[in-house]
Amino acid sequence: MLDTTEAPLKDLDALDDLRIARDTAESSSAFINAEKKKEEFRDYASEARASVKEFYRLNHRYQTLKFVKAKQKEYLPLKKREMGVWEAMEFLNTLVDDSDPDTDVSQIEHLMQTSEAIRKDGHPRWFVLTGLVHDLGKILCLYGEPQWAVVGDTYPVGCAYSDKIVYSELFSDNPDKNIPEYVNRLGIYEQGCGLDKVNISWGHDEYLYHVMKDYLPEEGLSMIRYHSCYPIHKEGEYSYLMNDHDRQMFEWVKTFNPYDLYSKSLARPDVAALRPYYQELIAEFCPPVLRW
Ligand SMILES: [Fe+2]
Ligand SMILES: [Fe+2]
Repeated sequence: MLDTTEAPLKDLDALDDLRIARDTAESSSAFINAEKKKEEFRDYASEARASVKEFYRLNHRYQTLKFVKAKQKEYLPLKKREMGVWEAMEFLNTLVDDSDPDTDVSQIEHLMQTSEAIRKDGHPRWFVLTGLVHDLGKILCLYGEPQWAVVGDTYPVGCAYSDKIVYSELFSDNPDKNIPEYVNRLGIYEQGCGLDKVNISWGHDEYLYHVMKDYLPEEGLSMIRYHSCYPIHKEGEYSYLMNDHDRQMFEWVKTFNPYDLYSKSLARPDVAALRPYYQELIAEFCPPVLRW
């Protein structure tokens, strides 16, 4: 029996760092600048790979449809806390992992690097705010949720797993494999039913989507809800569950992705100096207190 509270990742961003390492080795995107050299990324990748595999061993074993529904029931009534967006940013920043504080940016810095990169490209204010809040769902960790139920790539459950999902062979340990209704292509869903009707593995995306649902336009909400759903936005899988509206929204999810991943190589933001701008931006869209 595996210990479900195990934390194989040194820090919550290890998965993104590994993805950047791989992309950097493969691509010449303008977002990837010389500050973090390809070799550093590659060294990091070889070191990180074992812990990432261990992370997905747990994730793929325990993210059953039953587990996902239980977490929806536990969290989506939004009865854990009441706090404003800035307060939530500070709360998330209390999350301490084993990462090196000299080289790894804090949670607030990652949020601001993302939003500042979006702002510099002249995108609308709702898009900048989406960047600022996109990972606030990681406060699930502070409620005691294990890493594998907070971060990592997400994917539909209750239907066949795509073999494009990272370490998809590890789904052999998932008990849903033994439930005939769940193992075929459509599983419990209908062709083209739309992703809103599909249960996605539990994590920070879905939780924050529900917190922000009334305050951002649907394009921003889709970015939040599906930014970790790499099997769909990167691999193009599960199109048979999507409707035309999803396809439109995923263009925005794809637009968002490089800001999330590659803003990490930019300069560290001056959080104190930027605070007034962001507090005004938050106040334009959100009430002073939100339910979490
Ligand atoms: Fe995220
Ligand atoms: Fe992020």
